[in-house]
Amino acid sequence: MRVLIYHNAAEQWRNILQRRLPDADHVIAADSGNPQADYLVAWKPPASLFDEQTALKGIVNLGAGVDSLLKNPSLPRDIPIVKLRDAGMGELIGDYARYGVLHFQRDFDRYRRQQSRHEWREIAVVDKPDWGVGVLGLGAIGTRVAQMLATDGYPVHGWSRSPKTIDGITCHHGDDGLDALLGQVMTLVTLLPDTPATRHIINRETLARLPAGASLINPGRGTLIDEAALLEALGDEDSEGHLRGALLDAFPEEPLAADSPLWRHPRILITPHMAGPTPIGAAADQVAEVLGAMAKGEPVETIDPEAGY
Ligand code: GLV
Repeated sequence: MRVLIYHNAAEQWRNILQRRLPDADHVIAADSGNPQADYLVAWKPPASLFDEQTALKGIVNLGAGVDSLLKNPSLPRDIPIVKLRDAGMGELIGDYARYGVLHFQRDFDRYRRQQSRHEWREIAVVDKPDWGVGVLGLGAIGTRVAQMLATDGYPVHGWSRSPKTIDGITCHHGDDGLDALLGQVMTLVTLLPDTPATRHIINRETLARLPAGASLINPGRGTLIDEAALLEALGDEDSEGHLRGALLDAFPEEPLAADSPLWRHPRILITPHMAGPTPIGAAADQVAEVLGAMAKGEPVETIDPEAGY
């Protein structure tokens, strides 16, 4: 079988897949002019690549989110698409969320501002059992993140479109479930996929349902958040608004524009989409397993293009 690899670290991917599937022909893809392949292993491939590939039997998305792939105008509609599921990203994003939750729960945001004023003032700690954390999106990554935060001692509420049961997590679903969750969490972590149904799910109304002084962590997708509503909820530069602060890793347009007002807001922390870089070893194990199964005609867990994840 021939596997075409499209990635900005394609050579590294080719070398690692070569070791795991030595009998396959692994080819690094250019934007065009490639030989016909059986499978495409790719992150954000250009439309031109699909236009010339007429024999593909399957696609492996080298990331957890398939939003960018599904927006590709030349994506073939009739072949299976498999995405990475956790593959080590869950733990990395769990650590990112932990850092963010501690930042707000242990008042590092307020202490930083006090430091800038040379102000020595102790703030009473809100205990973990009183610091509810919400995780929107209970896919492989959201579930892992929710479990890590629950292990740390926070009461964790999870939300998904359809009902789920996860040990140690209070699971909610549907519109009513979202309302119930928002009222109980001091930090909200957004890990939903980017679909028409999740666009701006964090908006003026949903932000208003969070308790005063709540905080937001978005390691998911930028489209989940209505940026104007976020800035409004954060209040002006000098005083905390209804929302106390936000830690943002994902933006609708990346890189975030240099003139975005998010950069200079004193209660927003920005990281450049680094919350969960794909660990290549774990991901390559998964890719090799999926390619092996597809080549043998065995069932694989494919994405649902209609649902968008
Ligand atoms: C990164 O954002 C991914 O979807 O894996």
